[in-house]
Amino acid sequence: MKIAVLPGDGIGPEIVAQAVKVLEALRADGAKLEMETAPIGGAGYDAAGDPLPEATLTLAREADAVLLGAVGGPQYDTLDRPLRPERGLLRIRKELNLFANLRPALLYPELAGASSLKPEVVSGLDIMIVRELTGDVYFGQPRGIEVRPSPTGGSERVGFNTMLYSESEVRRVAHVAFGIAMKRGRKLCSVEKANVLECSELWKEVMIEVSKDYPEVELSHMYVDNAAMQLIRAPKQFDTIVTGNIFGDILSDAASMLSGSIGMLPSASLDAHDKGMYEPIHGSAPDIAGRNLANPLATILSAAMMYRYTFADLATADRIENAVKKVIAQGLRTGDIWTEGTRKVSCSEMGDAVVAAL
Ligand code: NAI
Ligand code: MG
Repeated sequence: MKIAVLPGDGIGPEIVAQAVKVLEALRADGAKLEMETAPIGGAGYDAAGDPLPEATLTLAREADAVLLGAVGGPQYDTLDRPLRPERGLLRIRKELNLFANLRPALLYPELAGASSLKPEVVSGLDIMIVRELTGDVYFGQPRGIEVRPSPTGGSERVGFNTMLYSESEVRRVAHVAFGIAMKRGRKLCSVEKANVLECSELWKEVMIEVSKDYPEVELSHMYVDNAAMQLIRAPKQFDTIVTGNIFGDILSDAASMLSGSIGMLPSASLDAHDKGMYEPIHGSAPDIAGRNLANPLATILSAAMMYRYTFADLATADRIENAVKKVIAQGLRTGDIWTEGTRKVSCSEMGDAVVAAL
């Protein structure tokens, strides 16, 4: 298996180094792995004047999977939009056709005190959000800002985007979501706004059509505003959620905080052939970058997802996840999850501890 390693900016290189340590430990133990590193984001701009250099894209295309850190930083905020680090990330997702974004929100029992919600509301939490990643209002045409006649006379600027899903786009993400629900609690909640949006009406119809192929899965439907409320009120009612790009963007960020820290949450972005890009859901954390303070567990857990979804090696995925559980149970904590009575460790110490637990 060949992995394209794209550390990116800010804490990216620090956290990716810890995941690479874990992968190297697996290799020393017999795993057949090849890793090659390339710049993306601000690092791509610095190296080649492009947030997604051609050589990086080529490497990512050739590899079986991509491991990414994070991109972005204040030093790049004044660049023209096409040169910004974040554009590199959006482009690589689109170029690799990574349409299904899997974001598990899982609470480790020892971290219940770090969650934003009361322990009794979140203990045992284990949700999977499947977010469509390459369609919706982010990509639909037409889009733009134009001057148009104003209803009150004269003219004014209008801004517009188009919420658009084709039936095939909905169908392919539906199959991924039903497949995942089959392996979990066999409950899938499709989140949309079909009461007011035609785009959502089609989404819901296609979900119902696809559900015929998965009679074992119980499909339910929820409007997105209610889903936002229910995630905070009683998150454990959910098993697997499937939703569009913008609703999923918002709901998955909200769900992430139920787990205690953004530094704990991994993600997978998959194409139709289970090729994937694996990355923590957080950004480059410029406020703590370069100080060996970041929590590397989201990135290490992203490597576990790589084993689960792209390499289809569930034993190794479990092994990495169990090693993370063990260091948490041992009381090791980076600053973001530290609470009284636990032992504060650095980013690299946490990586070493996971390798030892492995
Ligand atoms: P952020 O996720 O980088 O940071 C938010 C807060 O969480 C900060 O206080 C940070 O210190 C903390 N944090 C994040 N990851 C952590 C970790 N592993 N361990 C401990 N603490 C952690 O989001 P922010 O500040 O909004 O954005 C910073 C930069 O990252 C921006 O340039 C933004 O565009 C970019 N970004 C990149 C993403 C990506 O590469 N996937 C996603 C989100 C933001
Ligand atoms: Mg987001």
